[in-house]
Amino acid sequence: MEQISVAAYMGAKCRLAQILVAMMVYMKANRYVDLFGGLGNLFIQKPVHEIEVYNDLDSDLCCLFKQLSTGGGRSALVKRILDFSYSAEVHDKAQEILRSGLIKSGISELEYATYVWYDLLTSMNGNKTGAFRGINDKIDENKVKNRILHKLDMLERFEGVQVTNRNALDVIKEDIQNKELADRTMYFLDSPYFENNAGYSHNMVFSKEHEEYCDLVGRLGGYKMVCGYDNPVYQKILVEKYGFYKYLVKEVAKTMRIGGGDELRAREDEFVWLSYPLKGAYQL
Ligand SMILES: C[S@@+](CC[C@H](N)C(=O)[O-])C[C@H]1O[C@@H](n2cnc3c(N)ncnc32)[C@H](O)[C@@H]1O
Repeated sequence: MEQISVAAYMGAKCRLAQILVAMMVYMKANRYVDLFGGLGNLFIQKPVHEIEVYNDLDSDLCCLFKQLSTGGGRSALVKRILDFSYSAEVHDKAQEILRSGLIKSGISELEYATYVWYDLLTSMNGNKTGAFRGINDKIDENKVKNRILHKLDMLERFEGVQVTNRNALDVIKEDIQNKELADRTMYFLDSPYFENNAGYSHNMVFSKEHEEYCDLVGRLGGYKMVCGYDNPVYQKILVEKYGFYKYLVKEVAKTMRIGGGDELRAREDEFVWLSYPLKGAYQL
């Protein structure tokens, strides 16, 4: 079944979101923090927590999500993006504006957020710096505009979500100091994967970065869900040092079919490490 999303994005959890939200804690946590928000796919599938925070170190994504988090922002954004034509020229202009950044571009936050969204919708493989998706049987101006209109109800889900543009590790350090707050929080931790080669503006590739991250997550209070492929660092720190429970989520294609060829790509199992045990299925 096709899962509706704000746009395609590298490492997006649209297909896994339903399973992941079923594994989350609601009654004992009135606060939900998505520390590596990306395109916010978990919010779309998730029941509401009283307080909800979207965080990402990518300031372009935060600019977009700030607009999405208010009714006025959303309607202005949708109205504006429907004025943009679907073409390689506008796509290239969007990427040029994004390269200069919000301040240097001299345009308003609304206009900048529109270019961020437009770029994600029109770039190959959900990569902000990807090439134009082109015009063909599957995608043209009308189809893109219809897809945007089809998203309107879903976008309302972002109403009231607090948006922060911080390094996740700094947020975790701060919440370690505020145990009362952390203990009533469900943390969703979908960092760039260990040894990944995605084109995020901010990445976490190396073992040392994941060691520091896992150690901080282990010391944090509350309910924590960490996503990733299986790897020795998470086993050693999350499972053996901090007693996390490891669950298999689902096998998914590791890379998208970028070249358009028919060959099967490498597949890898998706896991979550939870700070709380689940009853029943999934446990290894
Ligand atoms: C795997 S993606 C998240 C995908 C998201 N769950 C979704 O479904 O769309 C990882 C995200 O982490 C962000 N990121 C990378 N390093 C970060 C850091 N140190 N602090 C906060 N965000 C970071 C990237 O910008 C990227 O958007």
